[in-house]
Amino acid sequence: MTELSSHTLSAVDGGPRHDADVARHLRAGGVSVIITADSGAMPSIVYWGADLGELDDDALHEVLAATEPRLDNSVDSPRRVGIVPEASTGWLGAPGLQGHRVDGSAWSPKFVDVRHEVHEKTLTSRGSDATAGLELTVIVELTESGLLRARAEVSNTADSGYTVDRLAVTLPVPPVAHEILDQTGRWAKERVPQRRDIVAGTHLRESRRGRTGADAATVLVAGERSFGFQSGEVWGLHVGWSGNHLSYVERHNNGHTLLGGGELLLPGEVALSAAESYSTPWVYGSYGVGLDEQAARFHAYLRSRPQHPTADRPVTLNVWEAVYFNHRLDTLLELADRAAEVGVERYVLDDGWFRHRRSDDAGLGDWYVDEGVWPDGLSPLVERVRERGMEFGLWFEPEMVNPDSDLARQHPEWIMQTGGRMPLEARSQQVLNVAIPEAYEYLLARISSLVSEYKIDYIKWDHNRDLIEPGSTARAGAAGTHEQTAAVYRLLEELKRRHPGLEIESCSSGGARVDLGVLEFTDRVWASDCIDPLERQQILRWTAQLLPPELVGNHIAGPRSHTTSRTHDLSFRATTALIGHLGVEWNIAQATDAERAELREWIALHKRFRSLIHTGTVVRPDAPDDAVVVSGIRAEDASEALIEIAMCARPAAWPPSVIRIPGLDPERRYRVAAVGPDAPRTITASTPAWQRDGGLELTGRALGLVGIQVPPLHVEHAALAHITGL
Ligand code: DGJ
Repeated sequence: MTELSSHTLSAVDGGPRHDADVARHLRAGGVSVIITADSGAMPSIVYWGADLGELDDDALHEVLAATEPRLDNSVDSPRRVGIVPEASTGWLGAPGLQGHRVDGSAWSPKFVDVRHEVHEKTLTSRGSDATAGLELTVIVELTESGLLRARAEVSNTADSGYTVDRLAVTLPVPPVAHEILDQTGRWAKERVPQRRDIVAGTHLRESRRGRTGADAATVLVAGERSFGFQSGEVWGLHVGWSGNHLSYVERHNNGHTLLGGGELLLPGEVALSAAESYSTPWVYGSYGVGLDEQAARFHAYLRSRPQHPTADRPVTLNVWEAVYFNHRLDTLLELADRAAEVGVERYVLDDGWFRHRRSDDAGLGDWYVDEGVWPDGLSPLVERVRERGMEFGLWFEPEMVNPDSDLARQHPEWIMQTGGRMPLEARSQQVLNVAIPEAYEYLLARISSLVSEYKIDYIKWDHNRDLIEPGSTARAGAAGTHEQTAAVYRLLEELKRRHPGLEIESCSSGGARVDLGVLEFTDRVWASDCIDPLERQQILRWTAQLLPPELVGNHIAGPRSHTTSRTHDLSFRATTALIGHLGVEWNIAQATDAERAELREWIALHKRFRSLIHTGTVVRPDAPDDAVVVSGIRAEDASEALIEIAMCARPAAWPPSVIRIPGLDPERRYRVAAVGPDAPRTITASTPAWQRDGGLELTGRALGLVGIQVPPLHVEHAALAHITGL
């Protein structure tokens, strides 16, 4: 429950008030946030971190007094840094709002006469600057899981136009934060962690790709020295937006360290006419002791949303790596038969089914079933899929168009462009301007009619190129990434409204559109085009910093990886895919009977643990050696856990010591046993006791403090430990 308390001298309970300082203490999910506003000014966050307990008015006053800004050699009446920092308060760091009118005025507003409203867990503050002709609204909410989120909106209250160059919100972190951890990556190697010290200046991450990006920061973490998955205070920021965005850590030598984030606006992209407004996306802040606790706050928030998928996530077969563009009905029917036999519950027909799409050079935009390849439409396949008891899913890439397509020939003006020239092509494609109403209507009509005709349960929504020079022909080539992103969200929302129950996957050259903005309208992400389990160990570990396993598509591919050419046993491929939304992406019609039989066992194992995997808490115990990657899932009531131990390289020590399993009930006894089709069948002298017949019994305290032996696995192999409360 979120509790609110307030400074008596300045309490505002729903009613507007602006004649005195205000202070609010928000508490939820083990987190406290204290927000204050100097007399008539916009709000600042005084404290964000571990729960401070109940604070009466005096205690709250003491916190405010203790943190009152006093600066030497600075302005005479120092102010706190606002959630949207303002230069008019004496702040000499990056202002939250940057913009101007054509005559150069309104570039440094001072928002006064601020009204504050509290509605349950949300504080809304609205101020104005009559001279600049602007209004600013800041909304801060502490969710039940203790996840903080904030956004800001600027409105133009004057008659002349106002151009917004930047609107960012900031969250303060205390000086104990010394290290930054965020993510980078590339196609087929997403979410690579990078770490450095915080120094004076700005660590700025910009995405100018017109999509979230395979190299996105994802969660930008500032934390205590040497923080890990289980230890060290960490503060993290995520921008919930699928277009250009920025996130940063800004440290000043006056004691201020800020996490900031918002949309990255291209020049002139947001030009407000009279009475128009611009709102930032939600910027999320997650505090925790250790990265696991920080991730758990994101996960709990996502799981609390009404649209969060609750039913068992259907095991999926995606045909992409099985057939690519080689769509032959007999092969696809056989795949459907084999898929049903091994326990698949959803069959997804990937790229290649629509007109002119015989390779990735042509056809995007022509969203009609190709009459040559599919003379009877998709019905023969869809019917077989349904007869076998599976759902049917179909691939689209709605925001893209090949110049070699009927659509591009008919509507070249729908292609995003500027300067009287076409942007450079990427994957032989251009970007369709979804913000043009006719283009939007075309996509809506085509997708909607196919969803209705084939009763499609699931769309894989792809997006395979960056936006280069994304101008709008409807606005003389003006920059259009903001309106493109907003239009795509509208399209997703409308499709969901028209087709209740339709699920959508966010895919973008693999995992380049993983963010909480798109997840408002979609039901899972495709983590990466790289299904090599060795690479996936890293990709999944870091995707989990934001998303719980049920939102992350995770497939078992064929023995030889299509992106790395490494070869792996089915047991390593399957164990790696187990903790996620499981799928298969492999031509299992060409697999051996033995492989299919083993695959069936792995799918059955996933189904046995599916409700634990899709509701439990992610645990990533710090391992004794970087070669050993340990990840797992613990039931919320600590009654059970499933732990995966992967040997990703050759460790320096042998055997590589023990791993501790955090978060179990210290007083309870647990049985630890090997599980899975590959649970050691041959016991040797080096097989740990927990992997032998019947397993081992230990208390939760012993599991947390002593741990269990890492099995002496071969490199690129994994083992599973099932821990059950007795
Ligand atoms: C990129 C996706 O990530 C793949 O899974 C596949 O759908 C291809 N696009 C199809 O073009």
